[in-house]
Amino acid sequence: DRADATAVREGSPVPVAHRGASGYAPENTLAAVDKAHSMGIDWVETDVQRTKDGELIVMHDTTLSRTTDVEQRFPDRSPWKVSDFTLKEIRGLDAGGWFDSRYKGEKVPTLDQFLDRVDHNRQRLLLELKSPELYPGIERQTLRELGSEGWLGRSHRSKLIVQSFNADAVKRVHHYRSEVKTGFLGTPKPEELNSYARFADQINPSYKDVSESYVKAVHAVRGPHHRPLEVFTWTVNDAATARKVTDAGVDGIISNKPDVVTGALRAA
Ligand code: G3P
Ligand code: CA
Repeated sequence: DRADATAVREGSPVPVAHRGASGYAPENTLAAVDKAHSMGIDWVETDVQRTKDGELIVMHDTTLSRTTDVEQRFPDRSPWKVSDFTLKEIRGLDAGGWFDSRYKGEKVPTLDQFLDRVDHNRQRLLLELKSPELYPGIERQTLRELGSEGWLGRSHRSKLIVQSFNADAVKRVHHYRSEVKTGFLGTPKPEELNSYARFADQINPSYKDVSESYVKAVHAVRGPHHRPLEVFTWTVNDAATARKVTDAGVDGIISNKPDVVTGALRAA
């Protein structure tokens, strides 16, 4: 099973397509998922938020401005927060044209649509709860959707990691469904790792914080599933940095250009 590819210190780190292969296709769209798939990339990272009418969608920023045409379509709705728009309004936006005119017509996916596409491609999912403090109850709601789409069953469990910068959100995910693998985004001090290891299977720092000694300190601690904590680092878009974090011993490399990462690992 390719799930073994994520096991700590077995071979080289896994490449993860950040917001899909977002260096080549508009981030967090189905086109970006497919782009990663066409490059042979198994793992896809994405960000979940909630609309005004309570639907889960995939979007990085907490406003819609940067990655859609919302300002043209709704000029009077500043500051264009995700939580101020209904799903219907958001689905009517163009989420591709800003990136390249070839992608005009690409939509903001619902979480369900995103899950379906990842599953259809037989890919794996690193799902970030983005700014969960803005969306009370989003942990439970996300787990419910993952469950109803079959992502919490035995066959899919090894294909899913839920992560957040918000430690309380990660704790809640672990508390509600302890079988789900979780990640904390950030760089806790080595002496704090034991407390994170009660609820997080991964410690996922910026590449700027990665060193061999830090990765060793993380690997030395066992997580909630009694395995050594893993390290997936972000966001690595060049070969030299990919080699550096690989030498430091990371388990996953999150990248807008995951093909650059695989190229660097192959050449190493
Ligand atoms: O997966 C890690 C990375 O996505 C965290 O930063 O801002 O791109 O969500 P951000
Ligand atoms: Ca993210």
